[in-house]
Amino acid sequence: MLPDIANRLDNIPFAGIRKVFQRANELEAQGKKVIHFEIGRPDFDTPGHIKAAVKTALDNGHVHYAPNDGIPALREALAMRLKLDKKLNYNPQKEIMVTAGGQEALYLTFLSLLNEGDEVIIPNPCFGPFGLAIQLAGGVAVKTPLLPEQNFFYDLEAAKELLSPRTKAIIVNSPHNPTGGVLTAAQMKEVVDFACRHNLILISDEAYDKMLYDDSFVSPATFPGMKERTVICGTLSKTYAMTGWRIGYIAAPEHIIGAAVRLQQNIMLSLCTFAQHGAVAALTGPQECVEAMMSEFARRRKLVLEMLGQIPGLALTGSPGGAFYAFPKITLPGISSSQVTDYLLNHAGVAVVDGSAFGDGGNDHFRLSYAVSYEDCRIGLERIAKVMQMFAQRSL
Ligand SMILES: Cc1ncc(COP(=O)(O)O)c(C=O)c1O
Repeated sequence: MLPDIANRLDNIPFAGIRKVFQRANELEAQGKKVIHFEIGRPDFDTPGHIKAAVKTALDNGHVHYAPNDGIPALREALAMRLKLDKKLNYNPQKEIMVTAGGQEALYLTFLSLLNEGDEVIIPNPCFGPFGLAIQLAGGVAVKTPLLPEQNFFYDLEAAKELLSPRTKAIIVNSPHNPTGGVLTAAQMKEVVDFACRHNLILISDEAYDKMLYDDSFVSPATFPGMKERTVICGTLSKTYAMTGWRIGYIAAPEHIIGAAVRLQQNIMLSLCTFAQHGAVAALTGPQECVEAMMSEFARRRKLVLEMLGQIPGLALTGSPGGAFYAFPKITLPGISSSQVTDYLLNHAGVAVVDGSAFGDGGNDHFRLSYAVSYEDCRIGLERIAKVMQMFAQRSL
C-alpha cells in the first residue's frame, strides 16, 4: 500500500459552501432554476479599463516572473490607496507585499507569526479559512462569541476569559463575513485597546473595506501607535469584481513583511505578472466603477432587508451595514437551520449557506449573499417566504 497523506490534513475539510454549490449545480443540470444566494463574490464583470491594462501588459511582454513581493508599481499603487482611503502611511518598498488574494495574505500572516501552540482569537461565526489557516500554521484558533445586537462585535468579556499566556493575536473583520456587520469607530477602539492591554497583534481582514452602506470604514491601524501592532490583509477581489485574478496584499511592519516575502519566495515565487499590471489600473484608475457596483448592491440590500423583515420565523438583528450578506436567525422552535437550508435548496431552488458552516456561533442562522440580480433577489426571497410559512405551520 502507498504511504498515506499527511496527518495535518485530518481536520481540514472542504468548505461547507462547496456542498451547496455542487448540489445547486446538480439541480440546474436537471433543468431547475436555482437562486444562488450562496456565492460570496460580486456578480459583476471586472471593469473594462482594468482588463485593457492586462491586454497591454501582455502585448508589452510582461509575461515573466515578478519580484517576490510584487511589481513596484503595484506596491506603490497600494501605498497610494492606503494613504488616500485610510490615511495610512506605508512604505511600498518595505511594508507592503502582493499576495494571491486576501486568502494567501492570511496564510502568509499566520505562517509568519505563529509558533506551534500559539493562540489566535477569532470571531465565531467567521470566514472559514481563519480557523483552518491558523491550524495549518500550527496555531490554535480560539473561537470567541460575537454580540448580534452590537453589529456582531466581539464579546470582549468572553474574549478576556479565553486569554492564555499563549494568546498572540486577535482577528477583526469589518465588514464581517458572514453577517455583514460593521464595527463603529468606538467598537474598533475597544478592540484596539484590548489588543494593546494584552499585548496582542491585531490582524485586520479588510476584504470588504469599500463595501459599506451607512458608515465609513475604520482600520485599526489608524489608531495611535497601532500601525506597529497591526497586520492588514486586503484584497482587490471584492472591490473591483476581481475574485478570479487572485490579487491581494499585506500591509504590516517591515519585519513581518520580510518574513512573509521569504515564505512567498518559497511557496508562490511570485504572482501573475500581467494580472498585477491590471491591478495597478484598478487602484490608480477611475473609481466610479466601484461606486456603480455599490449603488446596485445598495438597491438589492434595501429589497432584501425589507423582504426578510416580513418573513415569519426569521429575525435579523440590527441591519447588516457592509459586504453583501444578510445573516437571518431562524426563530421557529424545533426547526434547525440545516432543515431550512436543505429544504430551500432541494424543494424551493434557493441556495443559501447554513450558518453553522461558519462556526457554531452561526447555528440557527443562514447566510444569504445578495450578489445576484435584483430580480433573482426578489424571486429568491418570495420562495424563502413560502418555505418559512410552511415551517411556521409545522412548528405550531
Ligand atoms: C472575510 C474574507 N477574507 C478574505 C477573503 C478572501 O478573498 P480573496 O482570497 O478572493 O481575496 C474572503 C473571501 O470571501 C472573505 O470573505
